[in-house]
Amino acid sequence: MNRTTRQPTPRLETDRLILRGPLPADADDVYETHRHKSVADGVISIPHPCPPDHGEAWIRWVLEEAPAASLHIWVLEDRGSGRVVGDCGAQIDLKHRVAGVGYLLHPDHRGRGLMTEALRAVFGWLFEAHTPPIERIYADVFPENGPSLRLCDRLGMTREGVLRGSVRKNDRQRDAVRSAILRSEF
Ligand SMILES: CC(C)(COP(=O)(O)OP(=O)(O)OC[C@H]1O[C@@H](n2cnc3c(N)ncnc32)[C@H](O)[C@@H]1OP(=O)(O)O)[C@@H](O)C(=O)NCCC(=O)NCCS
Repeated sequence: MNRTTRQPTPRLETDRLILRGPLPADADDVYETHRHKSVADGVISIPHPCPPDHGEAWIRWVLEEAPAASLHIWVLEDRGSGRVVGDCGAQIDLKHRVAGVGYLLHPDHRGRGLMTEALRAVFGWLFEAHTPPIERIYADVFPENGPSLRLCDRLGMTREGVLRGSVRKNDRQRDAVRSAILRSEF
């Protein structure tokens, strides 16, 4: 394989989840998750309030634009209910073999370890199955986002420092805590 070619986004399976690319039929579930203020507060690019066609628009964006941006996006399908309860993504910098991750869960599905489970599968793919293997995975988290910081800790990431004023959200510069894990630490 050409080492500079983007790999297809794989389907990943865990005990409780199926991680797969979004389908047009997921639009209502995506809207039902993204519409919560706690989701919009934690991430950079989801509007609040969400417009009614947000689910369709987000899925169209993933299908049409994520590949060109070296972005892999998975929706998290709950095996029990068949519903999509969250999503996560990895943006890959192939030149440096580094990936940045982002993630979100419907509020009703937090506190059960689902995102820990999902990201372990994503990390496993990036570190072990991706060609070439990714050497470093990082996440940037707003300092007040305790659940997300704890999730990074639980995944074995190291809090490396605060990127001061590194993100613009709602017309103001925000700090972000950068956590990262190396392939040798996974
Ligand atoms: C960040 C976010 C995904 C974390 O959700 P979460 O449910 O805490 O994460 P997990 O699914 O890994 O669950 C971990 C929690 O479940 C508990 N848990 C229960 N069973 C568990 C299991 N089998 N394995 C791991 N944790 C388990 C843990 O104790 C932990 O709770 P705690 O943080 O109170 O100690 C969620 O808060 C969210 O979607 N926030 C809004 C969007 C956002 O901020 N995204 C991050 C952008 S950087």
